Amino acid sequence: MQRDLSDMGFSTVAVHGGVNLDPVTGAIGPHLATSTNFAAEYGSIGFSAEATVEEQVPFAYAREGHPNAAQLERKLALLDDAEAAVVFATGISAISGLMLQTLSPGDHLLVSDVSYAGTAEFTRGLLRSLGIEVSVADLSDLDDVRTALRPNTRLIHAETPCNPVLKLVDIRALADVAHQHGAELCVDGTFATPAVTRPLSLGADYVVYSLTKYMGGHGDALGGAVLGRAEPIDRLRREVGVHLGGTLSAFNCWLILRGLETLPIRMAAYARGAARVAQFLQDHPAVLSVRYPGLPSHPQHSLAQRQMITPSGMIAFTVTDHERFGRGLKDQLKVFYYAASLGLSRSLILEARTDDLQRTTFKLDEEHLRRYREWAGDGFFRLSIGLEDSEDLCSDLERALSVLPDPGNQRAQSDRSATM
Ligand SMILES: Cc1ncc(COP(=O)(O)O)c(C=O)c1O
Repeated sequence: MQRDLSDMGFSTVAVHGGVNLDPVTGAIGPHLATSTNFAAEYGSIGFSAEATVEEQVPFAYAREGHPNAAQLERKLALLDDAEAAVVFATGISAISGLMLQTLSPGDHLLVSDVSYAGTAEFTRGLLRSLGIEVSVADLSDLDDVRTALRPNTRLIHAETPCNPVLKLVDIRALADVAHQHGAELCVDGTFATPAVTRPLSLGADYVVYSLTKYMGGHGDALGGAVLGRAEPIDRLRREVGVHLGGTLSAFNCWLILRGLETLPIRMAAYARGAARVAQFLQDHPAVLSVRYPGLPSHPQHSLAQRQMITPSGMIAFTVTDHERFGRGLKDQLKVFYYAASLGLSRSLILEARTDDLQRTTFKLDEEHLRRYREWAGDGFFRLSIGLEDSEDLCSDLERALSVLPDPGNQRAQSDRSATM
C-alpha cells in the first residue's frame, strides 16, 4: 500500500516515497526481495517477457523487474516529478541504453564538448561504429549549439554541472533550442541530483543519473537511472532493460533506497562544506583559480543561482605547480583520498590533465579544445567534498599546498576570479 504523498515536501518524499508497508510483516522500511523468480497463476506468464500479463503478474523474472527496483523507481520518479523511471546496473548503462534506444543509424547525436569520460568514449566509439553521427558543441553557448544542429539531430546530451570542469548548461534555454529543432534533450544530473536541479521541470525530456554517486551516497553500490515520460521509459525498460539485461540488483536497489532517504540533508551538508573549502582555496596564495558554482567568481554564477537550489559539493582548482602539488598529496593528506568517483561521505581528490583527457576521451576539434583550455587550463584537481568537518578538509589542503613555493609574481599575473 502506497502512502499518499501529494503536496508533501521534498524531504518527506525522500524518506517515504516509493516504499510500501509490507503487508505480511508490517515492516515500515524497504524489504529486500532477492528472489529471481516470482510465482504466478497458469496462463499469466509464458516463455518470454512479452507473454507476461502485467495486470496479473507484477513480477515474473527479476531481469524484467523486481520489487526493490520498483520501489526505487517510484521514489526516483517522485523526487524528480517524473512520470516514470527505470533503473540500470550502472550510470553508464543508463546513458548508453537511452542512446541506443533513442538513436538509429543515420541519426545525429549532439553531445557536450565536456562530459563524463565514459560518455565521451561511448559516444565517439561504439555509437559511431553503429552508424550514428556524433558531434560536439559547447552546450553553454546556444549559438554554438545552433551551428552544430543537423537536420537529422535527434538527441542532445548535456551534463550540468559537467564532469570534470563544472561548467553549467542553461537547461530551459537548451530545451527550447532542441524542441524548436524537433530534437529531444537528455540531461545527466549526476553532479546535481533532484535536491539541486530538476531538469524535467525545466523542459528536458530525459534525466539520467549515476546512482553510484550522490544518490546512493555511500560509495557502496553501483546504479543508474533514466527518468522521463511514461511511454518512452516503458519502451526503454522493455527493449533495453530486458534485452541488454543491465538489471540493477535487489541489494543495490535496497542500498540506494536507503541512501536516498538522506539525500536532502546530505546535499545541503556537501554544499556547506564545499562553500567553505572553495573560499579557502580562493584565498590561498598558491591556488591560481577555483571553479565552484557557489562562488561569485564562477563565470556562470548567476545561472547557478537561478538553476541550482544549492551549488552541490564538487570543486575544481588549479595551483601554481601542478606536478609538485600532485606528488606531495600522498604524504600530506590525512582526510582526502586520492580516488575516482564522487558523492560519498569521504572527501576525494583527483587530477585531470588536459592532454591526457583529450587524448583518451574528448578528442576535441581545435575550436572546442581552445574553449576547454580557456576554462580548464592544462590541468586541474577535482574535489568531491564529503561529510567531514570542513575545517579538517581545509587543514588537509593547507598541508598539501604548503609544499608549493611562494607563488610571488605568478599569482599577481593570474586573474584568480576568471581564469582556469
Ligand atoms: C556525470 C556522470 N555520469 C555518469 C557516470 C557513470 O556512472 P557509473 O559509474 O555509475 O556507470 C559518471 C561516473 O563517474 C558521471 O560522473
